[in-house]
Formats: sequence, C-alpha cells, structure tokens
Amino acid sequence: MLIAIVIVAALFGMLFGFDQGVISGALPFIKQDFTITPFMEGVITSAVPLGAVGGTIVAMVTTDRYGRKPMLILGAVIFLVGSLISALAFNQYILTLARLLIGVGIGASAMTAPMFLAEVAPARIRGTIVSAFQLMITIGIMVSYMSDAAFGGSGDWRWMIGVGVFPSIIALVGILLSPETPRWLTLNSNADKARDIIARLQPESSDAEIDGIIAEIKESARDEEAKPSWSTFLKKGILPITSFAMIVFVLQQLSGINAIIYYAPEIFKNAGFSGTTTDLLATVGIGVVNVALTVVAMYLVESMGRRKLLIMGFIGTSAAMALVTVATMINIAATPYLAMIGIFAFIAFFAVSLGPLPWLYMAELFPLRLRPRGMALPSVANWFFNFVVALLFPELLAGIGIVGTFAIFTGFCVIGIFYAIAVAPETKGVTLEEIEQRTVAAG
Ligand code: BGC
Repeated sequence: MLIAIVIVAALFGMLFGFDQGVISGALPFIKQDFTITPFMEGVITSAVPLGAVGGTIVAMVTTDRYGRKPMLILGAVIFLVGSLISALAFNQYILTLARLLIGVGIGASAMTAPMFLAEVAPARIRGTIVSAFQLMITIGIMVSYMSDAAFGGSGDWRWMIGVGVFPSIIALVGILLSPETPRWLTLNSNADKARDIIARLQPESSDAEIDGIIAEIKESARDEEAKPSWSTFLKKGILPITSFAMIVFVLQQLSGINAIIYYAPEIFKNAGFSGTTTDLLATVGIGVVNVALTVVAMYLVESMGRRKLLIMGFIGTSAAMALVTVATMINIAATPYLAMIGIFAFIAFFAVSLGPLPWLYMAELFPLRLRPRGMALPSVANWFFNFVVALLFPELLAGIGIVGTFAIFTGFCVIGIFYAIAVAPETKGVTLEEIEQRTVAAG
C-alpha cells in the first residue's frame, strides 16, 4: 500500500514537471496559430509560475484545516481542467488563463505532495522518498519534451499539451483511493483512524510501535501549537536561515534554468540551429541529462556534502553560461555546437547541484516548529523569480539579444559562487536536531 501511495504522490511531481516543460515545444506552433508579440509569449509562459505563487499561498493557509488529501484532490482536478482548457483554447487569452489555473494546481501540490509523502513515509526512508519528488519533476519535464517531439512533426501543439490530461486522471483516481495522512488525522482528533492507516502502511509494526508513533505525533504537535508569527523569521538566529533559504532559490532561478526549460527550442534557433525537429530532439536530450544528473545528485549530496556541491555547481554553471555567451558573440561556423555544449553542461551542473540543493536546505535548516511556514517563504521566492525570468526572457531576447541575455545569467551564476563561499552551511551527516541546536545557540 505504501508503494502505491508514494507512486500517486510522486505523480504530482511529474505533473508539475510536465506542465512546466511542455510549453517549450508548443510555443513555436502556438506563435503560428495566434500571432503574438514577445511580451505575450512571456505572459503565456509565465502564467504557470505566477499561478503557482497563488497556489502555494492557498495551500499554506488551508492544508492544516482541511487536510492533505482534499488539497491534492483539488490540485489534480485543477490540473485536469486546466490541461483540457489549454488544449482546446481558441485564443491566447484563454490559453493564458488556463495556464494560470494549472499554475495554482502546481503551486498547491508542490507544497502539499512532499508534505503528504513525508507524513506517510516511515522515518527510516523519509529522505529518499521526499527527494524522489524532485526526481519526478525532472521526469515530468522529460516526458513533456518527448510529447513535444512526438507531435512536433505535425505541429499539433494542442496534443502536446493535451497529453497532460492522462497523468492528471491517474493522479486523481489514485489520490481518491489513498488515505489521509496519519499525522493530519491525529492532529485533528482522529487517532483511531490514524492507527488503522499506520497499521496498513507498516504491516510489520507491532501495536506498541504504532502507539509510539501516535504518541510522537502528539508530542511534536504540542511544540507546534503556538504557531510562529511571521516576525519570528526576522529574529536573530532565524533571519540568516530565512534569507539563505530564499536567496539560494532566487539565485537558482536567476541562473537562467527556466529560460532553458521553457524556451530551449527558441534558444537553439537563436544560436543558429535550423529545423524544428532538431531543436525538439536536442530538447529531449536536455530532459534526459536533467533526469540522469538528478539521480547522481542524490548520491553526491551525501558523499561530497551540500556546501562543496553548491560551490562547484555555481562554478560549473558560470563557466557553461559564459561559453554560451562567448560562442554566440563570436558567431563562427561552430557557434551552434559550442552553444549547445554550453547549454548541456549548464543543465548537467544545475541538475547535480543548484536543482536539488535549495529544496534540501529549505527542508533541513528550519527548526521543526517553524518548518511549515518557513518552507512557504522560500517556495514563494522560487515561484516569483521563476515568473520574472519566464516573463522577461522573450523580451530580453528580442531587445538585447542572446549574447546580452546570457551574459546576465552568467553574472548571476558568478554572484552565486561568492555567495555560496561566504554563506552556504554544511548539513551533511548532521541530524535535524543538531541543526536545530545550532540555530537556537546562534539566537
Ligand atoms: C527548480 C525548477 C526547475 C527544475 C528543473 C527545480 O529545482 O526549482 O524551477 O524548473 O528544478 O529541473
């Protein structure tokens, strides 16, 4: 049963990735159907991250009251309806509204699904199960690129997007069949039901062990009863965590990752490649490298450690972005290939480091009592800057060109090197309780 539930919740990660990635291959054809300006291109693309800012806030204020399961059901329904409307949209405005709606679903489930996973997973495998969510995001992006490539020949952008309906239906049926989390039930005076569910999730546990789990949940709830006020996050001792968790996400987004995720075929065209099919295939390659290196990251965060990996990631992404900038500036016969090498190298360094690390830091650094609200702040920063990049990229490309745009991304990656060297903490091999102690001591 546990496996089935984990698959269902991780499927939300896949939907998240799918809806992020699918626009990249669809956009060139949407542009042919509805004549749109670069600004409108940015609006259509950035509607998803903008909606996600709203969805994160909705989830933050409602999931404690109504439960994780209803939030995820709502998320799946929104995905489904949003995918259908965008596939059928007859103008760019309906398409934008549908994508805004999908964004709300993404934001809400990106907050709730990892929480759901963490609360149903037995403690000993929690880390692996939660990090599987990031992996599923990258798999979703890869599948969306494959859908783009499959329908690229016929240029049918409606099918590219419409394919998203199928995983939404599976996620919806799956979550309807899943139980609410034992933790939420216990906190909402339904310990008996929670006990039944834990017994089904962990059939190897004895009655005494199950009682222990329920007692632990109640114990931790006592600490959480006094909900922290937002000003807590500005207090000495906590402020450095709040600002680090947010800034590392801001730099993650300003590195230019989603310019590539959303606009890869456009970028390849600007770098001198011609032929939509080549662009779409190259884009599938990006999706595959992203997945593969995320798997490597799951190993490296433990062996190399967070801090070293983050510094290395910023150095690597800076070099890769600099290569794209210089290659497009000198404009020689080899330019398209050099730019492509730069973009693949960027994705590899990103996926192994800047991709998963901000999520991991966010979950590790805040003391338990502050975690739910603490995690909402960096999530909002992540989506907001994702929105800014998605909105401005087509305008920048049209205005200052590919060289200037990638020079800006290079600049932010270089700032990241210095920021990581100055501030990034090491949390490898340290228990969450020890991290908490450090925070208390600093405060
Ligand atoms: C980022 C997303 C990005 C994805 C790419 C995530 O860590 O937050 O914005 O699209 O990685 O794999």
